[in-house]
Amino acid sequence: MSRLCSVYFTVMKIDIRSLKSSEVSRLQYLPFGRKETHRRRFMLQESGKLIFFVAWWDNLPVAQVLLNWEGGDASGVPPQVRPWPEVSSLFVHPDYRRRGVASRLLDMCERITFQRDYVNIGLCVHVANQPALNLYARRGYRDAGWDPYLAQGVYVDSNGGRSNWRELRVYLIKSFGKGI
Ligand SMILES: CC(C)(COP(=O)(O)OP(=O)(O)OC[C@H]1O[C@@H](n2cnc3c(N)ncnc32)[C@H](O)[C@@H]1OP(=O)(O)O)[C@@H](O)C(=O)NCCC(=O)NCCS
Repeated sequence: MSRLCSVYFTVMKIDIRSLKSSEVSRLQYLPFGRKETHRRRFMLQESGKLIFFVAWWDNLPVAQVLLNWEGGDASGVPPQVRPWPEVSSLFVHPDYRRRGVASRLLDMCERITFQRDYVNIGLCVHVANQPALNLYARRGYRDAGWDPYLAQGVYVDSNGGRSNWRELRVYLIKSFGKGI
């Protein structure tokens, strides 16, 4: 099979869609967050505050992202007023990384943001998260120029284990200009 064909079939395996009620309990395959968190976020989607996108690969949930209309739902966000949608909680299952899944999720978030007439989209990232920084830089996200800020909270894993997290984050913006 030519490289072009194999890329085509790889892309075809992914289905990205907003989470449905019947799918909330199926997200346990993602080693990120727990049922209660997924359910809470699903309820935020129901109330129109965000879109909870999940990437399904051969019917397995392999990645997620939130597109927040009213600022990110993470415990640490910068104090500045941010009148544009924000991407948060981007996560790709380790077995499915470097196959363009995060890029597809971000394509979706950016397209919908642009269609709703926003000219910017933003997100926060840990200053030392090099894979994510590479991903965002490649897609045209730039440092907003605000001071890095300390974000902290409690992470509860899928087994109920709790751990405190603290990280220095930087805020990035992508501007669409005349199009995407
Ligand atoms: C960061 C993350 C979302 C990337 O997901 P992914 O599906 O592997 O990303 P993609 O395949 O779409 O990568 C697109 C580009 O981003 C860059 N990139 C992605 N992962 C990278 C890595 N580990 N090292 C260096 N560059 C990387 C590359 O330029 C890559 O293109 P290439 O594969 O052609 O070189 C994933 O590693 C992840 O879930 N990490 C843990 C959670 C996290 O850090 N989320 C971001 C929070 S802000």
